Amino acid sequence: MEPRRLLFLVASTREPGHVGNTEWLARRAAERLPADAAQTWTHLAGLTLPPFVDQRHTVGTYDAPVGDAAALLAATLACTELVFVSPVYWYSIPSPLKVYLDHWSAWMRVPGVDFKAKMATKSLALITTSGDREKAQPMIDSVRLCGEFLGMRWTGALWGRGGAPGAVEQDAEATAGAESFLWERGP
Ligand SMILES: Cc1cc2nc3c(=O)[nH]c(=O)nc-3n(C[C@H](O)[C@H](O)[C@H](O)COP(=O)(O)O)c2cc1C
Repeated sequence: MEPRRLLFLVASTREPGHVGNTEWLARRAAERLPADAAQTWTHLAGLTLPPFVDQRHTVGTYDAPVGDAAALLAATLACTELVFVSPVYWYSIPSPLKVYLDHWSAWMRVPGVDFKAKMATKSLALITTSGDREKAQPMIDSVRLCGEFLGMRWTGALWGRGGAPGAVEQDAEATAGAESFLWERGP
């Protein structure tokens, strides 16, 4: 079987050097990965992506991305498992993750990339925190549907009760769930 290569995309906008609840929970889950699973961690808020422009019905195609966007596309294509490490912001996802997802629409139309077909070979998981589990459901459903649009295998969501940094460490159910969340969700 192909070795697991996980790309963790951290979407929190905590200041650099401050580990938020969602990343803490995700790092806890990642500790349980087998030693031969490769991990790449990227903080989306630290990248400079161009604004997405919808030129689907004018130009119809997109130039190959450059700079951080090119690196992010390459990292996305290189993984076997994509893990969104994203808090709930306004019942939805933080803007850095939204911009990344909008660029999927461009990458699907960069000649020669074959983005959609390649993404269909990967899985998508979500690790998230917020104040209230029930009200996180629209965001969880949204992420799942984005992956399914590209034919990705949905391997589920791990939710923890967040708030101020460190809050999720008090959520016994989430920390217990982290023990097996990635372990059980191989490709
Ligand atoms: C801009 C913003 C919007 C938020 N919106 C919600 C929300 O809609 N529902 C909720 O329960 N918590 C909301 N929160 C709280 C965060 O989800 C919570 O503090 C989370 O644990 C932060 O994750 P982090 O520590 O990984 O950055 C919001 C926080 C921010 C900064």
